Amino acid sequence: MAANHFDDDAQRVKNASDIVDVVGELVSLRPKGREFVAICPFHDDHKPSMSVVPHKQIFFCHACGTGGDVLSFVQKFHRMEFRPALEYLASRAGIELTPRSAPKRPIAEGEPTRDSVGEANDFAHRFFQAILAHPEHGKASRDIISNRGISDEMVAAFEIGAAPDRYDGLLLKADDARFDRRLLIGAGLVKTRDDRTYDAFRNRLIFPIHDQTGRVIAFGARRINDEDEPKYLNSPESPLFHKSNALYGIRQASRSIQRERVAVVVEGYTDVIACHQAGFTNVVATLGTALTAGHARTLRRLCDTVVLLFDGDNAGQRAADRAVEVFFTEPVDVKIATLASVTDANDPDELLARPDGADTLRASIEAGVELLDFRFRRIKSEWSHLGPAALNKALTEEIGTLARLGLTRLEPTARGLITRRLIELTGLDETVIAHALRSAGFAAADRNARSSRDEQAPAARPVIAGRSLSAPEAIIGCLLIEPKLWRTHAEAIGLLPTRLRFDDANAQAVADCVLGLVRSGTDPRLETVLAADHRPPVQAAAVALSSAAEQQTDRDPSRVSVLLQDCLIRIATTIERAQSDTDTDPLARLERERAARKRLGSNFQGNPWRPRPPQ
Ligand code: UTP
Ligand code: MN
Repeated sequence: MAANHFDDDAQRVKNASDIVDVVGELVSLRPKGREFVAICPFHDDHKPSMSVVPHKQIFFCHACGTGGDVLSFVQKFHRMEFRPALEYLASRAGIELTPRSAPKRPIAEGEPTRDSVGEANDFAHRFFQAILAHPEHGKASRDIISNRGISDEMVAAFEIGAAPDRYDGLLLKADDARFDRRLLIGAGLVKTRDDRTYDAFRNRLIFPIHDQTGRVIAFGARRINDEDEPKYLNSPESPLFHKSNALYGIRQASRSIQRERVAVVVEGYTDVIACHQAGFTNVVATLGTALTAGHARTLRRLCDTVVLLFDGDNAGQRAADRAVEVFFTEPVDVKIATLASVTDANDPDELLARPDGADTLRASIEAGVELLDFRFRRIKSEWSHLGPAALNKALTEEIGTLARLGLTRLEPTARGLITRRLIELTGLDETVIAHALRSAGFAAADRNARSSRDEQAPAARPVIAGRSLSAPEAIIGCLLIEPKLWRTHAEAIGLLPTRLRFDDANAQAVADCVLGLVRSGTDPRLETVLAADHRPPVQAAAVALSSAAEQQTDRDPSRVSVLLQDCLIRIATTIERAQSDTDTDPLARLERERAARKRLGSNFQGNPWRPRPPQ
């Protein structure tokens, strides 16, 4: 991974992985000119700040300054190391990687990591699938599957497996394959008690839980015998699996969620599978938790509307309370739909087993009520028979609740829109609403201070965005966007110190790489630099430098040339000045600069130096 290390595998994988395809599978892209734009997944973005540039095969966020190539995107998005990201893209593109000659790092030592849990899950996943196909050990599970009417296509699409009815099935398999038990223990697939080790999942139907790339992050395991408790067991929390953010079915559903721009969230694993089988392919489930901001963040990158489909009325009411907070944190429309209002079936799975089930399900999704509307309808139905005064009081109180849940924290435009909506929904006067919001505002201030601390770590500081480039930055940026330019400025570049100094270590790595390429006679193309250094922060710095240089020059090649020339001269004169430190006379300095310009400018093929165009 060191700078200037060209990796054939990485290059082959990059050539076969179009950044637009790969990014497009993870976030929703909209075409804009020759590029695509998206909500940036790397900071709390509210407008599409991220660009994906097909002809350069890079991404770049104008707001948080992050950027890089396809490998770097995958590493950042899935918080993967370089190698797993490479393996993921390779398998996606059907490319066989050169086997690693060095032995694998002993990742079994110490705490489980995302990669060690992933590796253990992968091993167990293959075992569970093999068991489901096993004539004897998979029989009970296959019977359940067929009794529940789950099709072969769904078994394949959801990669359903089975855990055998014994304490050492996975353990024996691991020992047989010389797979390190400690990895399985780290992933919670094998447990230890009093010196004994045993399989965590026994005699259960196994639902692997994937992330968007298809990596198995955890398992849900349903009992086969009704006597076993609990009904469902999940993998424990791990660096790879946070129950509160995971969505069952997200991999299978994400394309269709993007296409329809709507996601439907149901309550159970089997409900997701039944829905997909019936053609509702934009359905996912939370893992027994209410919708969290983490879920909403994943979904809003893919769509505009999330329909929460609850089995019963009560669960719907409770979840609608929790969802309001999410709604105020993540800009996505939330609708609430309940099956109980249209059918006596207990859940989508049960409903879809009926002849007209699909129509009823569609109707109930379509009857979904916008979140705020849902809450006010409930209040109206509870209070209106007590008279208008009681109702108004309840409505005003609800507005106070909304304020505390985060309404007052919204930026003015969003708050204004919601206030309009509140007027429509409640029939209350605007001044009454404004007053209720204001008096709740004080209570909210304290709470907001708390919750803003809970938010994700702040996005990386924009490297350059918002200021003009320093001379060393501009030199590197110009060379990145017009890589042939070094040839016409070779003499001035030759006068540069061996190393241009940067405060930022990542920019320094980029500069060293660019000047290294130039000095070895290679055009310092952005792609070449990205291929030479896979570290995401270094890639981000490279993209930021090139993009800032583009902004400063409007991508006009002659302006790039002028900017480069100017900065080279500035550096050259700085060096001369430092060498003759007694010389502080401004006139002498001017003279020296003029001399430098003349000397270096003469090399500037028929293009005499002229002042930098206004910015
Ligand atoms: P339910 O218990 O409502 O499912 O759990 P169900 O429809 O009766 O059971 P099936 O369809 O026969 O399997 C719904 C969801 O709640 C979570 C699981 O995600 C499950 O799919 N759950 C339920 C648990 O995590 N643990 C439990 O013990 C029960
Ligand atoms: Mn069910």
